[in-house]
Amino acid sequence: MSFDRSIKIAPSILSADFADFGREIQAIEAQGADWVHVDVMDGHFVPNLTFGPPAVKAFRPHVKTFMDVHLMIAPVDPYIDAYAEAGADMITAHVEAGPHIHRTLQAIRATGKMAGVSLNPGTRAEAIADVLDLCDMVLVMTVNPGFGGQKFIHSGVEKTRRIRQMIGDRPIHIQIDGGVTPETAPLVAAAGADVLVAGSAVFKGGSVENPGAYGKNMRAIRMAAEGARKDAA
Ligand code: DX5
Ligand code: ZN
Repeated sequence: MSFDRSIKIAPSILSADFADFGREIQAIEAQGADWVHVDVMDGHFVPNLTFGPPAVKAFRPHVKTFMDVHLMIAPVDPYIDAYAEAGADMITAHVEAGPHIHRTLQAIRATGKMAGVSLNPGTRAEAIADVLDLCDMVLVMTVNPGFGGQKFIHSGVEKTRRIRQMIGDRPIHIQIDGGVTPETAPLVAAAGADVLVAGSAVFKGGSVENPGAYGKNMRAIRMAAEGARKDAA
């Protein structure tokens, strides 16, 4: 995949119909999703449980764009190979998930997949300064991970600006996850984010029978973000 900083919308299938993932993925892609974001939770690192490797493997044939797997699990390292084999294109691990994020990112890269590093709202930008060269993406959490539908935490905007400066001209994406809406997307886009994850704001009002609402929701987020980029330029 060639690198660019254009705005990309990555719907989180955490807000999809859990009985119909194949058609939900097809619907969001047909309606303009750039990536598909898969939230993996372990009931330990975060207080919720979602998808093991067999579930992610079952999503894979439906994803024609890019499968972005966000691991909210601890420990991470024992599961990297399984999620790589399940077909992730990007695997993101949390800096808070263990003492050895450097080793974890090396292990992700060793699978041939792209590697992301994520920071919770309570973690400072500097925590990832020494691993940036092992990363293809930094994920700035703008909610405490675990659930969809939470309120955007505004300190993530300044953190995004700081990380954008730290990245300089390196080909590293900045992803925002949590509470992204047409109201909050412009703030992070102007600060330097390019990949916007959104769950509730994409899936609200739509269904596989009414996928047009997904398209409308994604266009609203994209337009707001692109508008803010123009204003910032
Ligand atoms: C939170 C997850 C998010 C979440 C986003 O733990 O990582 O991807 O599903 O949901 P919204 O967009 O509803 O905040
Ligand atoms: Zn996520």
